[in-house]
Amino acid sequence: MQIAIIGTGYVGLVTGTCLANFGLSVTCVDKDIEKIKQLNNGKIPIYEPGLEDLIVKNVKENRLRFTTDLKKAVEESQVIYIAVGTPPNHDGSADLQYVEEVARDIGKYLNDYKVFVNKCTVPVGTARKIKQIISDNYKNPYIFSHCEGAQHPKQSQFPSSNSEEPSFPSHCEKRSDEAITNNINPGDLSNYNPCQDSPSPLREEYTQDLLPLRGGRIKVGVKHPFDIISNPEFLREGSAVYDFTHPDKIVIGYESEKAKQIMQEIYRPLYLLDTPFVFTNLETAEMIKYACNAFLATKITFINEIANLCDRVGADVQQIAKAMGMDGRISPKFLHPGPGYGGSCFPKDTRALNATASNYNYDFKLLEAVIEANSRQREMVVNKIEKYLGTLKDKTIGILGLAFKQNTDDIRESAAIDIIQMLLQKGASIRCFDPMAAENTKKILPDLVFCSDEYETARNSDALVIITEWNQFRNLDLNRIKSMMSNPILFDMKNLYEPFKVKELGIEYYGIGRR
Ligand SMILES: NC(=O)c1ccc[n+]([C@@H]2O[C@H](COP(=O)([O-])OP(=O)(O)OC[C@H]3O[C@@H](n4cnc5c(N)ncnc54)[C@H](O)[C@@H]3O)[C@@H](O)[C@H]2O)c1
Repeated sequence: MQIAIIGTGYVGLVTGTCLANFGLSVTCVDKDIEKIKQLNNGKIPIYEPGLEDLIVKNVKENRLRFTTDLKKAVEESQVIYIAVGTPPNHDGSADLQYVEEVARDIGKYLNDYKVFVNKCTVPVGTARKIKQIISDNYKNPYIFSHCEGAQHPKQSQFPSSNSEEPSFPSHCEKRSDEAITNNINPGDLSNYNPCQDSPSPLREEYTQDLLPLRGGRIKVGVKHPFDIISNPEFLREGSAVYDFTHPDKIVIGYESEKAKQIMQEIYRPLYLLDTPFVFTNLETAEMIKYACNAFLATKITFINEIANLCDRVGADVQQIAKAMGMDGRISPKFLHPGPGYGGSCFPKDTRALNATASNYNYDFKLLEAVIEANSRQREMVVNKIEKYLGTLKDKTIGILGLAFKQNTDDIRESAAIDIIQMLLQKGASIRCFDPMAAENTKKILPDLVFCSDEYETARNSDALVIITEWNQFRNLDLNRIKSMMSNPILFDMKNLYEPFKVKELGIEYYGIGRR
């Protein structure tokens, strides 16, 4: 089966590569010429553990290719995934301009029955909107053929009782009816003449209408030769390849049995691993994605709020989270306090869900509180640094971690970026280090001092702040760190260290909700 993936970003590139590794033939498309050039030169535009090896292997084995030629990719493929960005609008709602642009384009290139699979996180109703846009832009909804004796109503020699009714010679009418209920591709129809050909099979799902035109020509309507699927993605950046190939679930929103079966075929390797499948309607699939992300964002925010309270009452959030996680109804995941959730998904998806609620005049109080508390969490970190360091004017702060989480170079809505901007506003100067995200950060904050490692970051700093939980930050040589700093204070905003062990070394230590 030939697959096209439109949008070769974090989701598209991982999806395309993993599907190629399942043995399918995949073309990844992007309108970013530079990105495609890089990929065709063997350079991987994002950092994602395990991805590079898989790309190299599948390109070499001829199952994976990269192009900017959307038309060719769509025309050659049976299944087309849409994986473009859905960034937030100013009011928090999802900006669907990229999805809509793709829908318009693919409508123009329909040449055969196709399944369009939406992988983007989109508000309820978007799959139907995509379907409508594709239909509206389908350039060739009719084919014309010649039919001896077919009569335009105005021309008919044998007007029926209603003179506006078209008329066909009986042989043509019969063959057309037979053709309608059978099974051929719209592309094949260009040579189809119901007068002469033996009945060719036409697929039922192509709503057909036959219209005789002047001069014995016949117009055959070929509508909607495609199906739409809503297949939200749940991978996490940093472990995307593993997540795609070992998902907790696959959600498929569908309308036609045929498209459902094609999706089952694509994901057959996951079936064999006993991955649970949720088959549902388009709207429910779209909502499942938002419900999952909003719930996880709520869980993170809840433990952050508990941690903030721990700071005030003298309790230890690590032990609380551990005990909470022992309760099977709660589970220990997403109970790690920190500077607030970030990344390309949780912030935008919580805001988009809230915008959907507003559109339906529903006041989603819990979600609003989560969004507000998460934004305040960044301020709490800055307030904490200010509280223990005094004025930040002319202070040098070392920042460890720029990516929104470990194992990625993605800095979209990263807490580190927000916190750095607040520190700069208060007059601090910043030294920083991230194993993967420095290049992306340079594009938006070029004036920071970018250091080669953790120890260079600590050099002459008045405080060192850990914001991202990279594994290599968990075992720093703290004596060396101390010797490099002007003022040995560690703000451990991911609670990577035991407070008493750090304090024993003569370093002032502040975590989040730690005793
Ligand atoms: N990143 C994640 O962890 C994640 C996880 C689950 C779901 N999602 C969702 O998946 C979708 C994609 O996210 P992403 O992080 O991969 O985005 P991204 O910004 O990394 O990639 C999007 C790509 O689409 C390309 N693009 C835009 N318009 C195009 C067009 N008309 N034709 C061809 N290419 C086009 C862009 O150039 C870009 O390379 C979003 O809806 C997102 O919410 C993301």
